[in-house]
Amino acid sequence: MVAGENSPDYTFEAFAQHDFYRAVNEHLVDATLQIRSRLPQLPIRRALDLACGTGAVTQLLVEGLRRLRQPAEIIAVDPSDSALEKARRLVGNAAAFVRGTAQAFSSVATGLDVILFCNAIHLLPDKDEVFHEASKALNPDGVFGFNTSFYEGCYAPGTERFYRLWMLRALQLLKQENGIRPDRPDRTKVEAMRWLTPDEYRDLLQRHGFVIEDMHAEEAMMTCESWQDISHYSEFANGALPGVPEELAIPALQRAVAQAYDELGITELPRNWLQVVARAV
Ligand SMILES: C[S@@+](CC[C@H](N)C(=O)[O-])C[C@H]1O[C@@H](n2cnc3c(N)ncnc32)[C@H](O)[C@@H]1O
Repeated sequence: MVAGENSPDYTFEAFAQHDFYRAVNEHLVDATLQIRSRLPQLPIRRALDLACGTGAVTQLLVEGLRRLRQPAEIIAVDPSDSALEKARRLVGNAAAFVRGTAQAFSSVATGLDVILFCNAIHLLPDKDEVFHEASKALNPDGVFGFNTSFYEGCYAPGTERFYRLWMLRALQLLKQENGIRPDRPDRTKVEAMRWLTPDEYRDLLQRHGFVIEDMHAEEAMMTCESWQDISHYSEFANGALPGVPEELAIPALQRAVAQAYDELGITELPRNWLQVVARAV
């Protein structure tokens, strides 16, 4: 899947500006750079932000490398031209922005000391491909940091009720106002949508010769506005309500999440991010 490739308006940007989102990504970037910096005889010469989107993580990588006084070359890759354009505007010439995919980036970026791959691994139907590419593109002792909030374990205990209520209210709105009754997606039956467990990620990394330096869940507190912003991102809307045209799915998801927060009397909801740093040997 190459998301957003031809999308004229790249709408992930609003979600990427939420404080909790910046914080989880910043923690991953810092942990990845710190683990690599513990090898003092090996400077960081080249770093990649894979699936850079609109550049929020690229910016964190630029700042992190500056703090460590590592004047590395930074490459940022994404399949979406419109996202790359926004990222270029945000980051300027501190990074080189290149069109490419997680399945085939080693032709545009090799000899890497660091790879960051934030909030995108769950989009890949075959995760072997990115681990294979990363093991080819990384130098020995290069580090690979990735995170996802779509894995088995991402729902904080007790919050399943919220997701059920949100989808129920969205389906009701679509029925009442648009006369459509979409099927509920079943993640467990579609391999590309299946969320992996932390142990499955561990096995994949080990199979591709990585040593796991850190793997933990980090809790982030999500506001109603953040769900409304992520609902506006077509990749999310299509995943939540497959087959429903975006112009109907997006407002239904946005109104339904506000109803669910109101009904549950909450202003924030915890969600887990799986944060992983692995080292090539
Ligand atoms: C949710 S955004 C994450 C952006 C950024 N990494 C961040 O954490 O804020 C997912 C990104 O993955 C990109 N993407 C989708 N399929 C991809 C693929 N096969 N290879 C690389 N990137 C992909 C999308 O274009 C999008 O920019």
